[in-house]
Amino acid sequence: MDAHATPYETTVRDIGTYEDKMVTLKGWLYNKRSSGKIMFLILRDGTGIVQCVVSKGEVGEGLFSRLDKLSQESSLIVQGLVRKDPRAPGGYELAVTECEIVSEAFDDYPISLKEHGAEFLLDHRHLWIRTPRQRNVLLIRSEIIKACRDFLHNEGFVNVDAPIMTPAACEGTTTLFPVEYFGEQAYLSQSGQLYNEAAIMSLGKVYCFGPTFRAEKSKTRRHLTEFWMVEPEAAFMGFEEMLRLEERMVCYIVEHILNNCEHLLREIGRDVERLKEITPPFPRLTYTEAVDLLRRKGMDISWGDDFGAPHEAAIASEYTKPVFVAHFPTQIKAFYMQPDPDNPDTVLGADLLAPEGYGEIIGGGERIHDYTLLLERIKQHNLPMEDYEWYLDLRRYGSVPHSGFGMGIERVVAWICGLEHVRETIPFPRMINRLRP
Ligand code: 4AD
Ligand code: MG
Repeated sequence: MDAHATPYETTVRDIGTYEDKMVTLKGWLYNKRSSGKIMFLILRDGTGIVQCVVSKGEVGEGLFSRLDKLSQESSLIVQGLVRKDPRAPGGYELAVTECEIVSEAFDDYPISLKEHGAEFLLDHRHLWIRTPRQRNVLLIRSEIIKACRDFLHNEGFVNVDAPIMTPAACEGTTTLFPVEYFGEQAYLSQSGQLYNEAAIMSLGKVYCFGPTFRAEKSKTRRHLTEFWMVEPEAAFMGFEEMLRLEERMVCYIVEHILNNCEHLLREIGRDVERLKEITPPFPRLTYTEAVDLLRRKGMDISWGDDFGAPHEAAIASEYTKPVFVAHFPTQIKAFYMQPDPDNPDTVLGADLLAPEGYGEIIGGGERIHDYTLLLERIKQHNLPMEDYEWYLDLRRYGSVPHSGFGMGIERVVAWICGLEHVRETIPFPRMINRLRP
C-alpha cells in the first residue's frame, strides 16, 4: 500500500473495489462534523454518499481550517485512502490526504438538513433535487423509463415519436393548451395516439414516449399539466391481447425496479413487500361491476358517471394488485373508442388502477377501425372535420382492428416509490399553480 501513488479516479458507488488504494472523488459537501483535530466531511457525488475523514496532521493547519469553515454544497475534489469501515453507511470511508475546493458555496444554502414546507421546497426545486430522497426518486424514474423501453423493444415495438405541436385534440377539447403557431391556432399534444395509429400501418407495433400536456383545472396530488406518457399501439391487436400486454409491461417494470433499485426504495421508506405481490394475472372488473361495488360500499354514484379519485381508491382497495376496470360507458370516453359488440353502450376500453390508492396509471383500448362509425363519432363530438381527414384516411386505406394504451410515467413513479404527490416524481413539475423554476 503506497499512500502517494497516482490515485484512481472513481465514484462513491465503486469505492469498494479500491479498498486500501488511493482514489480521487469529485462531488459536493453534504454535511460536516468536526472534533478538534479530526473532521468528517460527508461528500455526495451523484452515485452515493461517503464519509471523508480529514486529520489536521495529514492535510496541514491551513487546509484544515479552510475546510472547517466550508459551507454545505461547496464543490470538492478529494483524494485519499479507501478504508473498510463496517460502521460507515456504504461500508467504506476515505482517509483524506488532499482536497481541492472547486467552488465555495455561499453560506446561505436554502435547503438545510431540517424540515421544510412543500411550497418552499418546490420554489427551490433546482436545489431540492440534490437531497438524497429526491435523487433516489429521480434514479428510480430513470430506471422505470429504461424498463418501459427495454420491455417494448423486447416485444418488437419500434419507437416512433409523435409531434408535440398539433392542430387538434385527442382527449377532449376542454384540456387543450393553446400555442400561437404563425397566425394559426395550435395546441400542445395531449397524447401521441392518433399519430401512433398512422405509424402502425407502416411498422406494425410502435410506441411513442414523450411529454404530453393537459390544461387540467384539477389541483390534485395526481395531476400535472405536463407529464410523460409511454404509448404503445399495435395493428391487429385485439382488446384482450392489449390487456395482457399491459399486465406484462407493468410486471416487467416492477420486477426491474425490485432487481435494480430495492435499496433505493428502502432508503425512501417504501414497503417493498407490497411490490413483490405484483404478478400476473391482474383482477378485472367491468365498469358496471365496479359501480355496483361502489354502491354496496355506500358511495354515491350512478351508471354513466365517471370515476373520481375516491371511487378509484375504493375499487383498488379491494385488491393487492393493479385492477383493470373495463367496458366503460361510451358517453364518458374518447371519440375513438371501439364499441363493445356485446353491449354497444359501452366501449372496449379499460383503465388500470394501481393499488394503495394511486389511481389510474393506464388508459387504453381498441380503436374504431370502421370508416363510417368513426366519421359519425367525429361529428357527434363536434370535432373540426378538416383536422381529422388524415386520421380518417387510416380507415380509408387498409384499415385493421388495432389497440393501444398510454401509461403516465409520473403516476407509476408515485406508486412504485410510494409518494404522496406526483410533484416529486418529475424533475421540474408543472401544475396549475406552478410554472417555476
Ligand atoms: O387516460 P388518458 O387520458 O389516455 C390517453 O391519453 C390515451 N390517448 C392514451 C393511449 O391510448 N395511447 O391518459 C393515459 C394516462 C393515464 O392513465 C395517467 O396515467 C396519465 O396518462 N395521465 C396523467 N398523469 C399526470 N397528470 C395528468 N394530468 C394526467 N392525465 C393522464
Ligand atoms: Mg384515462
